[in-house]
Amino acid sequence: MTAPLPFNRPEQAPSAPPEQVAEELAITDAVPAPAELGPTGRPMPFLPDPRPVTEHGNARVISMCNQKGGVGKTTTTINLGAALAEYGRKVLLVDFDPQGSLSVGLGLNPHEMELTIYNLLMEPDVRLEEVVVPSGVPGMDLLPSNIDLSAAEVQLVHEVAREQTLQRVLASAVKDYDVILIDCQPSLGLLTVNALTASDGVIVPLECEYFALRGVALLKTTIDKVQARLNPRLEIDGVLGTMYDGRTLHGREVLERLVQAWGDKVFHTVIRRTVKFSDSTVAGEPITSYASSSTGADAYRQLAKEVAVRCLDA
Ligand SMILES: Nc1ncnc2c1ncn2[C@@H]1O[C@H](COP(=O)(O)OP(=O)(O)OP(=O)(O)O)[C@@H](O)[C@H]1O
Ligand SMILES: [Mg+2]
Repeated sequence: MTAPLPFNRPEQAPSAPPEQVAEELAITDAVPAPAELGPTGRPMPFLPDPRPVTEHGNARVISMCNQKGGVGKTTTTINLGAALAEYGRKVLLVDFDPQGSLSVGLGLNPHEMELTIYNLLMEPDVRLEEVVVPSGVPGMDLLPSNIDLSAAEVQLVHEVAREQTLQRVLASAVKDYDVILIDCQPSLGLLTVNALTASDGVIVPLECEYFALRGVALLKTTIDKVQARLNPRLEIDGVLGTMYDGRTLHGREVLERLVQAWGDKVFHTVIRRTVKFSDSTVAGEPITSYASSSTGADAYRQLAKEVAVRCLDA
């Protein structure tokens, strides 16, 4: 005798009435589809808009830091700041690079500045309100800088508590702003150590190309040393892939290695390479206003949401 066919098995339940089948199918349809993978190869989380704020103050101070030049520190400072300001946060940008690119990128002329961050660092009588200028973006101010700041690095060496100088300068601003972003110069010298000492968090922008990964170990050692010796509250808020080209295998491999090395510290948001950033610098304004609906502007708005989830609204 042949074995009974499966549909003839006596233990098999009778088929469900059509209404029940439809109901079950509806339930199956309601299960969310698996989250789409983001450019970093991890599922992209839902990022809510930053929580509206009714009162300003108790700013989180965040440094943009990488000793490698041209990786997007200044671009990220301007555009993350502008995106956070769009979401209603009161933002202060600190140009802490003697190249003054942040100030120039917001349309200031380096030769026409009467007072800069240099005066605040070196002259105890100068008050922060005298140096702060509007950035052109509503809700975002700027502490400008120019080449004078390079002298501070030399002069500060002789000061007592030289590493805490910027922290003292910014102390009075913390109560007025929600976020203070410090644009560091491409070095790990005394100015950068001052920025890290004054900060609650650090964001490391990294260009998505192979050599970008070199030198990151040294940066991590510096951050660890500042945290151990000068500023125990310092955290790495995130590592940001910049100038990403998703069409190349190379770019994707670099992101993969970043995630292997830094895990969840790597932001899900990645900034793609586009000439719009250079164009907006020439125009002296953030990409969020220069090309408001561009992918670059959207990327920095998404980064603002991710930063809010990680360390502002947490
Ligand atoms: N995502 C991007 N796509 C294309 N160009 C970019 C991007 N981000 C920045 N740039 C351009 O790359 C150049 C370097 O960027 P940026 O000045 O932000 O780097 P940086 O790390 O601040 O440099 P430095 O170390 O000299 O201060 C600028 O001309 C900028 O306009
Ligand atoms: Mg810069």
